[in-house]
Order: sequence, then structure tokens, then C-alpha cells
Amino acid sequence: HSSVPAGLELRPLASGDYARGHLDVLRALTSVPDVGEAAWEGRFAEMRDAQPRAYYPLVLVEQGRIVATGTLFLERKFIRALGAAGHIEDIAVDKSQQGKGLGRVIIAALTAVSEAVGAYKTILDCSEENQPFYVKCGYKLAGVEMAKYA
Ligand code: ACO
Repeated sequence: HSSVPAGLELRPLASGDYARGHLDVLRALTSVPDVGEAAWEGRFAEMRDAQPRAYYPLVLVEQGRIVATGTLFLERKFIRALGAAGHIEDIAVDKSQQGKGLGRVIIAALTAVSEAVGAYKTILDCSEENQPFYVKCGYKLAGVEMAKYA
């Protein structure tokens, strides 16, 4: 149901993905100013080198261009005997590629990573509009998101 379509590669975000359109794909999600390649590489290295490892960004690549992305953030806790919760963040599929199952592939992969690294649950925030998508990915409504933007 969520195997990687032929011609696409699913892999971790990598150095150089700025030039492969990582920020362009994220623009399907929200406003993404162009910070430039050097700043992008700085943030990439920060996430890659964080100890303990907490960031697991994935991309789907087609002919050298990123067409979908999403990140798992692993939050370590005191509860649940030093358990960890996986947070699915910043899911975006390029506008021209939506509705082809790529979002489902990204969510299945991030969920698998979350479970593989031992998270006792995987959670995410979304709009009501996207709720049916996440239900199709096996997620269910659990609580209410609250936010206070700076
Ligand atoms: N309403 C109802 N059903 C939907 C919706 C929707 N808004 N979006 C997808 N679906 C269904 C599809 O029809 C499909 O159903 P099927 O398997 O029965 O045919 C199933 O969900 C899987 O859909 P995909 O094709 O994998 O979805 P897509 O690749 O378009 O990815 C996504 C969905 C990520 C929401 C994409 O449309 C997108 O990037 N949107 C803009 C950015 C965005 O909203 N990102 C998510 C923010 S929430 C977060 O980041 C945690």
C-alpha cells in the first residue's frame, strides 16, 4: 500500500539537497524564505550532528529533484521509563505530485523509523482538512492541538 513507486528514491535528507529543491517542496506546506545554501547546510549539519540523535528527515527524490519530504523528531522523556515520543513534522509533497500516494509513503517511512528507534507513540498536528489523509495512514484523532505563535 505504501511501497516506493518505481523511479523514486526514498532516503535521508543529505548535504546538497538545498540544490535539489528541498525548500521548494516545503513551500507546498508554508511560507519558506530562501535562506541560501550556506545557512541551509548549517542547519542540516546541526540536525545531523545533534546528540543524542533526534532528527530524522526523509526525502523522496525523482530524477535528482526532491518531490516530497517529512521529518521525524524524537523527543526523549522521563515518563514511560525514559521513553521517547516520535513527532512527525513538516510533511510536504510537491504540488504537481500530490494525490499519487507519495504522502502515504513518507508517513509510513517516518512511522517505521519512529518505531525502529523505540518510540512508544508517534504523534502529529494537522489541519482538519488533512485529517482524512492521516486517517488513511493509520492515525487517529487523539486530543486537540493548542498553539501560541510568537
Ligand atoms: N482529504 C481527503 N483525503 C485525502 C487528502 C485530503 N486532504 N489528502 C490525501 N488524501 C487521501 C488520498 O486520496 C489517498 O487516499 P486513497 O489511498 O484512498 O486513494 C490517501 O489520502 C493518501 O494520499 P497521498 O496521495 O499519499 O497524499 P499526498 O501525496 O497528496 O500527500 C499531503 C498528502 C502531505 C497532505 C499533501 O497533499 C501536501 O503536501 N499538502 C500540502 C502540505 C500539507 O498540508 N502538509 C501536511 C501538513 S501536517 C504535518 O506536516 C504534520
